[in-house]
Amino acid sequence: MIILVGGEKGGSGKSCIAQNIAVYLRTEKDANVLIVDCDPQRTTSDWIQERNSNPKLPHINCVQLYGKIRNELLSLSHHYDYVIIDCGGQDNLALRSSMAVANHILIPLRPKRRDLKTVGHMEDIISTCKMVNPKMNVAFVITQCPSLPSLANRILEAKEVVRSFDVPVLNSVTFSRNMYDDSEEMGMSVMEREPEGKAAFEIRSIIDELLIRAKGDVSHVASEPKMQHAFG
Ligand SMILES: Nc1ncnc2c1ncn2[C@@H]1O[C@H](COP(=O)(O)OP(=O)(O)OP(=O)(O)O)[C@@H](O)[C@H]1O
Ligand SMILES: [Mg+2]
Repeated sequence: MIILVGGEKGGSGKSCIAQNIAVYLRTEKDANVLIVDCDPQRTTSDWIQERNSNPKLPHINCVQLYGKIRNELLSLSHHYDYVIIDCGGQDNLALRSSMAVANHILIPLRPKRRDLKTVGHMEDIISTCKMVNPKMNVAFVITQCPSLPSLANRILEAKEVVRSFDVPVLNSVTFSRNMYDDSEEMGMSVMEREPEGKAAFEIRSIIDELLIRAKGDVSHVASEPKMQHAFG
């Protein structure tokens, strides 16, 4: 199964989410996972190098691929339960080739105007790629949400903007938490730093909701985060 975490907005949390999803599936679902790093900045490759040099952390394989990677992804997907792609912040060949074959596509966006301005263009790319990959399960996810209750409306408004383009957006979100930055420093995930923490809960909720959506079973989909629990 191929899961793409992509989008054209820089800094929205693509690498962070791809890395945490990979650890979640590897450690909590006991799956055979490969990360594909398509970003020349090599953020995720560097993180993996640090991770795999720590013998206490479960090993995860990683390869770097650029350009027209459709066929390589398809053949890699036969050897792994999950191939997770971290695609850098541009509309490039690797992003479109990945979208042509991915089973699940997650597009992180911050609830900020400049991020939300990219939704229209992403929707164009999604529509084009759906012609060759009609079964793709695609959703936006709102990330780095402000934790001040007075700013809760920004999250709801961001979701409304995405929905206005007729693209699904997950109920699950990530809030802005130091835990994300702190955990990636050591090649770790938020689940490994604090298994019962709020960030760990957010990651589990995001990937579970994305995968459940694909089955068409919305009865188990996470509800909007309960604001009084989510903040802080
Ligand atoms: N929910 C969050 N709360 C706080 N910090 C976060 C969160 N998600 C990501 N970050 C931090 O934001 C920064 C950018 O995240 P990340 O590198 O994952 O973005 P990206 O979309 O991959 O960026 P690029 O487009 O450059 O590849 C990192 O320092 C990361 O630790
Ligand atoms: Mg990145």
